[in-house]
Amino acid sequence: MTIAPAQRTGSTAWTDARLILALEEVVETELNRHLAIAKEWMPHEYIPWSRGRDFDGVLGGEAWHVEQSGVTPLGRISLVVNLLTEDNLPSYHHEIATMFGREGAWGTWVHRWTAEEGRHGIAIRDYLLATRAVDPVALERARMDHMSAGFESDNAHSMLHSVAYVAFQELATRISHRNTGHYAGDPLCEQLLAKIANDENLHMVFYRNLLKAALEIAPDLAMQAIRDVVTDFRMPGHGMPGFERSAAQIAIGGIYNLRIHHDDVLQPVLRNLRVMEVGGLGPAGLRAQEELGLFLGGLDAQATRFDERQAALLARRAANAARKAG
Ligand SMILES: [Fe+2]
Ligand SMILES: [Fe+2]
Repeated sequence: MTIAPAQRTGSTAWTDARLILALEEVVETELNRHLAIAKEWMPHEYIPWSRGRDFDGVLGGEAWHVEQSGVTPLGRISLVVNLLTEDNLPSYHHEIATMFGREGAWGTWVHRWTAEEGRHGIAIRDYLLATRAVDPVALERARMDHMSAGFESDNAHSMLHSVAYVAFQELATRISHRNTGHYAGDPLCEQLLAKIANDENLHMVFYRNLLKAALEIAPDLAMQAIRDVVTDFRMPGHGMPGFERSAAQIAIGGIYNLRIHHDDVLQPVLRNLRVMEVGGLGPAGLRAQEELGLFLGGLDAQATRFDERQAALLARRAANAARKAG
């Protein structure tokens, strides 16, 4: 790894440009590792085209109706949130190309990542339209609204914050796709989303390993970036129409909630990086590490309260359903 001279003069000497240069060799190594393990896959093979037929409108086919697909109501909500999130790829590309650049190993990664992400939106939309799982008109209008608003990174001010964010966000996206497949009620949907989730996992590994290298060369700044990102995390799709309502149902349904965020997203990355054991920190890094620990304790307690509310709500729903059935 190339260590920039700034390391010896303390963390205040690091700039984004120096960090990008210092991490270039790590990016190259991680890019090559990614290319060696990421197997080619064909989105079209995962779509049950035989279930598809013309829609009404130009071709005079059959209008959409909710009963045409066996996908669960929860699965429908989450598939739309996940698809609209994927749809904003042009904005994400803009943000990371601006931050990381389009040259050298960084540029190769940015373009390769964009190409891989591109197939997620294509495949999910193909699945939804072929199987008539969601209202195609509502979906298109939501896509227009969401993409017209664009996406602006909360972390555009700092490359370390950007790397830390995507390390957690890629894992959050993986878990969200995987669990959506779990609750969608169609094994073919689950199979497709598991494939997409596998891509997201490889993206997470790339950024997590980059963050690990950043913790070695600029530990105080990386620790502060991790603290800031973890304590202020929000999903990339937060700006889409009706996000709060959908997110609440996704949480209650067990696809993505505080417990999952804490246990399956934050903790695995933090444990892998041994963030709470990083030594050799200056005062700012130590403070960030301590604040991170306090935050995680608070989040765990909050997640436990959520678990209890969720269990009570599900029990009430089950009792109501039993009363209606009886
Ligand atoms: Fe994706
Ligand atoms: Fe990804």
